[in-house]
Amino acid sequence: MNAEQLHVFDRDASLITRHVASAEGCTVIDDSGRRFLDASGGAAVSAFGHSHPLILEAIRNQLDSVVDTHSMFFTNAPQEALATHLFELSDGHFARSLFFSSGSEAIEGALKLARQFHVERGEPQRVNVISRQKSYHGNTMGALSLSDASRGPLFSPYAVAARQIPAYFPYRDQQADETEDDYALRCANALETAMLDLGPETVTAFFVEPVVGSSLGVVPTPPVYLERIREICDHYGVLLVFDEVMCGAGRTGTFFAYEQERARPDILTMAKGLSGGHIPLSAVCTTEQVYQAIMQGSGKLGVTQTYMGHPLACAAGLGVMEIVRNTNLISTIGPKGDRLLGKLRERLGDHPHIDFIRGRGLFMGMELVRDKASKAPYPANEFMFRKVRQTAFDHGLICWPGSGSASEGGDFILLAPPYIISDAEMDELVELLAKTIDLCTLDRD
Ligand SMILES: Cc1ncc(COP(=O)(O)O)c(C=O)c1O
Repeated sequence: MNAEQLHVFDRDASLITRHVASAEGCTVIDDSGRRFLDASGGAAVSAFGHSHPLILEAIRNQLDSVVDTHSMFFTNAPQEALATHLFELSDGHFARSLFFSSGSEAIEGALKLARQFHVERGEPQRVNVISRQKSYHGNTMGALSLSDASRGPLFSPYAVAARQIPAYFPYRDQQADETEDDYALRCANALETAMLDLGPETVTAFFVEPVVGSSLGVVPTPPVYLERIREICDHYGVLLVFDEVMCGAGRTGTFFAYEQERARPDILTMAKGLSGGHIPLSAVCTTEQVYQAIMQGSGKLGVTQTYMGHPLACAAGLGVMEIVRNTNLISTIGPKGDRLLGKLRERLGDHPHIDFIRGRGLFMGMELVRDKASKAPYPANEFMFRKVRQTAFDHGLICWPGSGSASEGGDFILLAPPYIISDAEMDELVELLAKTIDLCTLDRD
């Protein structure tokens, strides 16, 4: 530990972190001058690259007028403009947006908004919320309660009651006699079973990541899945919440991930790519129906925080909007993702320990298994995902491995590079990753 670090509360005593000196584009440089290729944008945050000039400019412009006001007294131009962009990008679906700082806060906001919606409409008995196993929605208590149970045993005594249904994960769950759609429908129908068990009239909302991120390593579903989920929610008057904190803001090739689905949510959460990490910013977007239920009811939103609608953070979001709306960057994500996925399959598809390389846009994952034929994972107590993260880092690559895709362990590697990644950087990424995997698995064999 160096002297400067002495008074910072470390996040993990076992982590070997480095002191960052600068970051630009897909590159992060430490104070020894060592260069790292950021293949996961941190945790899928630096979507537009580090220090994007248009986002910096938008923030600088706002610095010259106003940096902070309170929503009890003032609204401000950046939050109004950002809400209008989200309204337009959703073709008028999201009539109203609220802005917070983190993804977890957006999830807390959505959780409370869903409950308030039903209470205002005279259904106070709606107290249950449903989410999926193998999902991650954040680290505040409400968001953690919705997330994979393995994330929170320490805090489960504080948890909000939430029912979880199985995740969609064909690699381990799809039966030999099931088509992809049969399997997807079986997973979706688990929502109806859970609702009937709880009493559908007691359920407020179902939370789902349209393309699951850090808990399962990017697993897109076939269109019937969310279509059926939408149908079930409509049938029982339950709100559908899409958590696009990780998969939104262009990550999968469209601004909203759900644009590639046959379903739209009642409430959507975003963060990470919404400001590309330049300033913490998250959003809860919702329909006019949800908004009016509250405004024509008590007229008082139950979710408020000091920093909501922060002008400087929303200005960072406007910088992102400048890129999204006035450049063709978003339309390059699909083709770039196809190229990268192709390269990964070419280089690692036959690797004895890499399986199920999948993705959508510049959001992808792969399984790291002990035995490919039987799909046997490495023992959970070997923490292979940590080894991959550290080895990659030691060789100048930032990626996001995780674990939990099998009932015991189940290591995977998530990639979410900045959208501006070049062909040369993609090639370097693939080589560094292949080297990392070889080093970690050969050492183990
Ligand atoms: C899908 C999803 N939802 C919510 C969150 C929580 O966001 P934050 O860490 O900004 O609180 C995350 C964070 O990784 C996430 O991936």
